[in-house]
Amino acid sequence: MSTVLGVDIGGSGIKAAIVDLTAGVMLTERHRIETPKPAKAKAVGKVVRELVTHFDWSGPVGVGFPGVVQNGIVRTAANLHKSWVDLDADALFTKVTGCDVVMINDADAAGMAEMRYGAGKNHDGTVIMLTLGTGVGSALFREGQLVPNLEFGHLMIDGQIAEERASSRAKEELDLSMKDWANDVEVLLLEMERLFWPDLFVIGGGISKQFDEFVSYFDKVRTPVVAASMRNNSGIIGAALVQA
Ligand code: BGC
Repeated sequence: MSTVLGVDIGGSGIKAAIVDLTAGVMLTERHRIETPKPAKAKAVGKVVRELVTHFDWSGPVGVGFPGVVQNGIVRTAANLHKSWVDLDADALFTKVTGCDVVMINDADAAGMAEMRYGAGKNHDGTVIMLTLGTGVGSALFREGQLVPNLEFGHLMIDGQIAEERASSRAKEELDLSMKDWANDVEVLLLEMERLFWPDLFVIGGGISKQFDEFVSYFDKVRTPVVAASMRNNSGIIGAALVQA
């Protein structure tokens, strides 16, 4: 059995669990610590170290990060702090934890988990995963292969960055009804449909719990839309998968 500590860094919480990669399941409860404010690299590094200590872990660690990550180097951090930009976060986390750490974009991680063990399993066509949280994350797969760091949440739609309407943070801050929020998310789905012609959309994030009501408001999108089957845990499980 191959086990990895999966860590999912989010805008509001940093969550971790020990993951069994053979079955794609969490072997422990997930442990969550609030994201420090401001979410500077050093402060977040401390939290990741706390999580490693909590699990008494010394093995490999996979970290999902809410921004573009190229070969361990963070390129964007829209919902954290600008101190992350161009930082070698793989090296920072490896240093503060003493473990072998590999980083990946959080939505790419969630998508990898859903493709391997969940809603995207056995889908060979073009699959787009979206995560609706503090930001809107996205991942694109063709024949199971990930095209990393696609940022569909930052598409400009009607002069506005898509995640400013389609994230769950936008729903809260703009006090949108479920129907209005679903309509805004559908606008983003339609834009991706128009450009990429996917065979399947998988949606994850906090919405998983009320998914049936949420999708009932979609009336234009033609592509099948399904819920992430691991709900919010796909981020942790997928982060662990980068160490597979
Ligand atoms: C970031 C993405 C991230 C998403 C979800 C966006 O603001 O640009 O890289 O995947 O939020 O956290």
